[in-house]
Amino acid sequence: MPKAKLLFFCQNCGFESTKWMGQCPGCKEWNTFAEEPQAAVPKKTAAGSVRKDAPHPKTLSEIEVSQTARMTTGMGELDRVLGGGIVQGSLVLVGGDPGIGKSTLLLQVCRNLSAAGKKVLYISGEESLQQIRLRAERMGTFTDLLLILCETSLETIREAIARIQPEVVIIDSIQTMYNENVSSAPGSVSQVRESTGVLMQIAKGMNITIFIVGHVTKEGVVAGPRVLEHMVDTVLYFEGDRYASYRILRGVKNRFGSTNEIGVFEMRGSGLAEVTNPSEYMLEGKPEGASGSIVACTMEGTRPVLLEVQALVCQSNLAFPRRTAAGTDLNRANLLMAVLEKRAGLRLSSCDAYINIAGGIRMNEPALDLGIALAIASSMRDMPIDEKTIAFGEIGLSGEVRSVTMAEQRVREAKKLGFTTVILPAGCKKQASRVEGIELIPVKNVREAIQAIL
Ligand SMILES: Nc1ncnc2c1ncn2[C@@H]1O[C@H](COP(=O)(O)OP(=O)(O)OP(=O)(O)O)[C@@H](O)[C@H]1O
Ligand SMILES: [Mg+2]
Repeated sequence: MPKAKLLFFCQNCGFESTKWMGQCPGCKEWNTFAEEPQAAVPKKTAAGSVRKDAPHPKTLSEIEVSQTARMTTGMGELDRVLGGGIVQGSLVLVGGDPGIGKSTLLLQVCRNLSAAGKKVLYISGEESLQQIRLRAERMGTFTDLLLILCETSLETIREAIARIQPEVVIIDSIQTMYNENVSSAPGSVSQVRESTGVLMQIAKGMNITIFIVGHVTKEGVVAGPRVLEHMVDTVLYFEGDRYASYRILRGVKNRFGSTNEIGVFEMRGSGLAEVTNPSEYMLEGKPEGASGSIVACTMEGTRPVLLEVQALVCQSNLAFPRRTAAGTDLNRANLLMAVLEKRAGLRLSSCDAYINIAGGIRMNEPALDLGIALAIASSMRDMPIDEKTIAFGEIGLSGEVRSVTMAEQRVREAKKLGFTTVILPAGCKKQASRVEGIELIPVKNVREAIQAIL
């Protein structure tokens, strides 16, 4: 009898090895290897042999498309990220930090779907029925089409789904589920992978949409949903600041739509509320007549978001001046300060500088460059910028202001929110001039931009 072989898998990245190792050669993480039995080797068959029950490949026109219409979740922001609604039979992974609101979001989806007459099954492996009831009571009224099950065994879950025949199933979370056929602990790479495989068969075989919640830990010690991302149809990440109440839902992968859309929500006592106009939300509480502040415009997918860029520049007493950037890339901010010093003659090398994107949101689009540069210049000279002015444009190393995409949409958004002046790259002027009733100031370099408004 050949001895059953043991294999070791990295719990972080799934690297496979025949012996235990302290450090994973794949992802360089320490102490992540765990022992798992080897999968059975399939029997060899002769190359020319044909099984009787082998499936026949079909031509595209032979394939019947049953229902292409999408189901709406009742939340416009979520529909947008999903590419226009839920596709029947798809597998959607929702990842995010602990406590960000994944369970809340999906319970709300359950409420909306069940209110629209869809049969929904919510399976929780980490909360008791009472806890779910408490959360649901905060959110409002639910219909009897929503069924709740507290279970972690996949076999029981499969049976429950087959019996109840729901249209949508929520699994909260994949790390708590276990498959009896796999010996390793729940949450390990092989359990998570096998469990997702089973759920995928259920989704595709029974044409049921399944939402899976996945936990992400900072250390990546628990098998993160990275391994799953290849298996599922759609991957959404729910992110936000621990100290701010808004939450952003980002599509990372989508087999049925674009991935650069975001959904913005606000966490309230009664659950997540949609923020349909993020710009208004981001600009709330903007100071009037203060120097070092300007509104910039960045694109999130097809939607422009206006936000306030703040800068504080003051004389430094240190040999190495302090520079910090909150909400944007510090290296980029340093680069912009060097460009301002060299190309616009601002003496920044002896100054401390603090950059902040107000509202706690993180934005890294190059189109923010001009906003950041103007905020720094405004603070340096202690001259406020007209508060009805916005700026966007990428800045190059020789101080040139380069054009960015979708200038027209950005200008349109600025007009909608009552701004009167837009400072934009000269290359974007033609596109932006399709919007009427707003003053455009095209600039070729930073020096021109600073002269135009200060
Ligand atoms: N009464 C309340 N008022 C306002 N916000 C609340 C209230 N109760 C809960 N929250 C918010 O809901 C969050 C918890 O949401 P939820 O349980 O959906 O998160 P989760 O992502 O599922 O977390 P986990 O990773 O633990 O499953 C809390 O962090 C808090 O911000
Ligand atoms: Mg939860």
